Amino acid sequence: MKKVLMVCLGNICRSPLAEGILKSKVNNEAVFVDSAGTAAYHVGNLPDKRSIEVATKYNIDITKQQARKITVKDFDTFDFIYAMDESNYKNILSLSRNNKDKQKVKMILKESNPTKNLSVPDPYYGGKSGFEDVYKMLDEACDIIASKLS
Ligand code: 4NP
Repeated sequence: MKKVLMVCLGNICRSPLAEGILKSKVNNEAVFVDSAGTAAYHVGNLPDKRSIEVATKYNIDITKQQARKITVKDFDTFDFIYAMDESNYKNILSLSRNNKDKQKVKMILKESNPTKNLSVPDPYYGGKSGFEDVYKMLDEACDIIASKLS
């Protein structure tokens, strides 16, 4: 079983979408996908309404998810840890204990844009269109991740 963790700041906007999108593209018996945040602000909460809305539009149900904070134990559980942005990336690396941990962490948009260091923009303070943009970026990256995992 391969295990993939999607990580953003609050675990209510971007990483729940990344989790839902990747789950929809892989064999869930062979790949386990989860998500977490680097901050604890929203622990226990459902994804943001606007993430639920855009996911529903594309037939993905993320309403069973609950926000949690990343822990150092996640380096033992997961094979691949994807950061949504540079700040998440740095915060995840600051939890790593060794090189093996570090090698698991990658910026998610490196999958779709390997020569750049693009971030998935934080859509929290913006409007609905930001969530649509985030969805599209994550969908493209998750297509590539899914093909690599199968
Ligand atoms: P996320 O978005 O990291 O994609 O879940 C955010 C959610 C909440 C906050 C910031 C970003 N916040 O400041 O509460």
